[in-house]
Amino acid sequence: MFSERIKAIGSNVRYGDSVLDIGCDHGYASIYVKKYRDCKKVYACDISEKALESAKRNFQKYGVKIKTYVSDGFKNVPVKVDTAIISGVGTNTILKILKEASYLPERLVLGSQNDLYRLRKELYSMGYKLVDERALLEKDHYYVIFLYIKAPQKLTKTELRFGISNNEEYLRYLKLNNLKILRKKIPWKKRIKLRIENLILTVLIERK
Ligand SMILES: C[S@@+](CC[C@H](N)C(=O)[O-])C[C@H]1O[C@@H](n2cnc3c(N)ncnc32)[C@H](O)[C@@H]1O
Repeated sequence: MFSERIKAIGSNVRYGDSVLDIGCDHGYASIYVKKYRDCKKVYACDISEKALESAKRNFQKYGVKIKTYVSDGFKNVPVKVDTAIISGVGTNTILKILKEASYLPERLVLGSQNDLYRLRKELYSMGYKLVDERALLEKDHYYVIFLYIKAPQKLTKTELRFGISNNEEYLRYLKLNNLKILRKKIPWKKRIKLRIENLILTVLIERK
């Protein structure tokens, strides 16, 4: 019933937390935390009314009571929560939602497929600590699920670039991606940067 990705998102939520699932769409993450993480107060929102209708149908189907809001990020949600889930929307949207928020929750469970370096860097400068990071392959795409909590942290440049994932498969994917770009015509500075990155990736993979 729940994909590995939804389970990974849900299992990053602390038992009993109040949760807001932003961009809930089908609402599976909300259902998961309500059912399996003992979260009594779960709220779901989406910018699209149509998406919320599909969430409401699923809430009914799985017999869970979850309050829904049509909302761009936190804007139209009148409650404050311990944890916000924002997944499946890409780094740009995640950062926009967080930067426009009137408050930021203690914990964030984020899922993005792109621009992970920028995501890590921005969250780092917003004062969030990267606690866990997991890459999952679903339908030929890699999804990375992050758990952040409000706390100070020092990350090295390598950790910001490649993350703290212990997932060897993901590092191999990054390496392959770089090799694909290296086959194209690209400026020499970028070529050198990618070659250095691939050397670092090789070392990281060999250490595993
Ligand atoms: C691909 S779905 C992801 C659904 C679910 N979160 C998941 O991870 O499977 C993206 C959803 O985010 C919603 N969305 C996009 N931008 C949003 C925003 N600024 N605020 C709230 N929802 C947004 C879209 O309408 C869509 O339903």
